[in-house]
Amino acid sequence: MQALKKKKILLGISGGIAAYKSAILARRLIEEGATVKVVMSSGAQAFIQPLTFQALTGNPVHTDLLDPAAEAAMGHIELARWADCILIAPATANTLARIANGLSDDLLSTLCLATDAPLFVAPAMNRLMWANAATTANCETLASRGVHFFGPGEGFQACGEVGSGRMMEPEDIRDALIASLNSTASASELALSGKNLLITAGPTREAIDPVRYLSNHSSGKMGFAIADAATKMGASVTLVAGPVSLTANPDVKRIDVSSANDMLDAVMQQVSTSDVFISVAAVADYRLEEVKEQKIKKSDDTMQLTLVRNPDILKSVSTLPNRPFCLGFAAETENVEEHARGKLKNKNLDMIAANNVGNKDNPVFGSDTNSLDVYWPEDGHSKIPSGSKHDVAKALLELLTQRLENTE
Ligand code: C5P
Repeated sequence: MQALKKKKILLGISGGIAAYKSAILARRLIEEGATVKVVMSSGAQAFIQPLTFQALTGNPVHTDLLDPAAEAAMGHIELARWADCILIAPATANTLARIANGLSDDLLSTLCLATDAPLFVAPAMNRLMWANAATTANCETLASRGVHFFGPGEGFQACGEVGSGRMMEPEDIRDALIASLNSTASASELALSGKNLLITAGPTREAIDPVRYLSNHSSGKMGFAIADAATKMGASVTLVAGPVSLTANPDVKRIDVSSANDMLDAVMQQVSTSDVFISVAAVADYRLEEVKEQKIKKSDDTMQLTLVRNPDILKSVSTLPNRPFCLGFAAETENVEEHARGKLKNKNLDMIAANNVGNKDNPVFGSDTNSLDVYWPEDGHSKIPSGSKHDVAKALLELLTQRLENTE
């Protein structure tokens, strides 16, 4: 079995002669099933060409913090978010010092600041640089912040000296990384492994005629953040998305839909294999009784549209005989707890996550942040404080995992 299957590894290469060994390291990681993206410092490029890594990994190599093309394709924040872990090999004295001091004036140091993924470093430098008190202090700082060190090893050095400071061999780094990832995989990272999650996200569009529709302001960000967080916690995720301009985690199975009825059809096709259903979508409550085949021409000063109720997708799932664990959302403008608890009961849910969308100073729709009050039967309640939608998604899934265990 490949020990790094599905792992997304950002391989940082800084400017030491050991950089030539990183090509073999990239190869070894890929052999274990990892997807590898490479970031090189300018010093590293003096020792080995980015093209070598592009050819080995099949991915473009990232070198500049402010490269307009790279920003358009995948900004540094997205790259940091993409990574399951960052491995810097070789990590020079300079790179260790920069990261220990929180510098962010090149791409590699910025990525280390912008990620919450585990960071692994394989130092490589002359023995006296390694033994220097400044390097020792930097390494202690990094270790105290949870950075994992691989090596350095002892032996003959490129500078002609013999001592401690050699980069560990690529195969040894690979093995150490596998062992470390296995042992540091926290309970929460593995909490949803083996589970199939079905998630709806975004708005729906209800056609009026060929050019017009009814919809709402949902951006889909919360649902996409939950899909991403669940994938990182080991779940297999199917995301049924209304019309949004977001990119899903590539490991998510995404099904794009438009109307509430389309969303219902897609959900019903997937639900039988799902352990958990999370209904984040802002589904339009009504659709047009009749969708005009031709564009409606303006005539009178007023016009009337007749709307009919859309199916309640969440309730259709939660009332199935063999239903999955159901988590609903409630966007409320007042009496949040009362309304959320009402929906929990009426829709036969296991959990409901409520947010107050009535606060003009803190809009939820389209925002990158959120806060939630989560309720479950028998007076269960937990508050998830304001944070990025990604952090809130993770906290919500940790709560869901606990409830799931209680109901299984
Ligand atoms: O009743 P209300 O629309 O406030 O309920 C919100 C919850 O129900 C959300 O989880 C939403 O995704 C879901 N819902 C649905 N189908 C609808 C309306 C709401 O699945 N037609």
